[in-house]
Amino acid sequence: MFGRLITLEGIDGSGKSTTLRHVASRIAEKQPKRKIVLTAEPTSGAVGRILRAELRETSGNEPMSSALRMNELFLFMADHAHHLAETVLPSLKEGAVVLSDRYADSTAAYQGVTLQGIVPHPISWIREIFRPWNVVPDMTLLFLLDPESALKRLKSRPGREKFERLEFLRSVDRNFRRIALAEPERFVLIDAARDEETVAEDATAAVLDLLSR
Ligand code: TYD
Repeated sequence: MFGRLITLEGIDGSGKSTTLRHVASRIAEKQPKRKIVLTAEPTSGAVGRILRAELRETSGNEPMSSALRMNELFLFMADHAHHLAETVLPSLKEGAVVLSDRYADSTAAYQGVTLQGIVPHPISWIREIFRPWNVVPDMTLLFLLDPESALKRLKSRPGREKFERLEFLRSVDRNFRRIALAEPERFVLIDAARDEETVAEDATAAVLDLLSR
């Protein structure tokens, strides 16, 4: 039996991590025999740890050279390859439902902004690099929230990260919407401006629908 891969995407502060926990516990309740694997990118592997340290230590105000932006892209891609090899593929082979908090679409959306002016059409360019080796999710839940509200939510949390700035998040939001438009059969759009409970219900319903097919 081959499992199912479901990814959660959205800008920082859109509520996908909270919803992921709700969805996982509701599915475990309704379908206790299913194996559920919760995972995330950046991962907790060697490259993921480098990325998380870098994200914490950089404020986002310092200008970053083209070479360092490319370095960051390839670190995210290396971490994705590690994620596929160590977690996603083995879990799918066991027939698990894999729920991933961020995945390759985050790289296309975020590095699609940081690589502007460095490579032509960065989103397509990044997606083209992934194409031959990536595992495409069965479903991607995209949490949509206007960047102003997302930043307000983030300000109430300790420890801000480098990508949490308004103009930047606006561009990332536009990229996510563009990516979703290109693959409407894979994406489920979730209005993340509503309360936690309603968002969780919506997301769970979408996942259960996929699992019933
Ligand atoms: P996030 O899931 O928000 O981390 P945390 O759980 O610590 O809040 O991811 C960290 C940041 O990394 C976030 O701003 C999005 C960014 N990111 C990229 O720029 N490219 C990527 O490929 C991924 C996976 C994340």
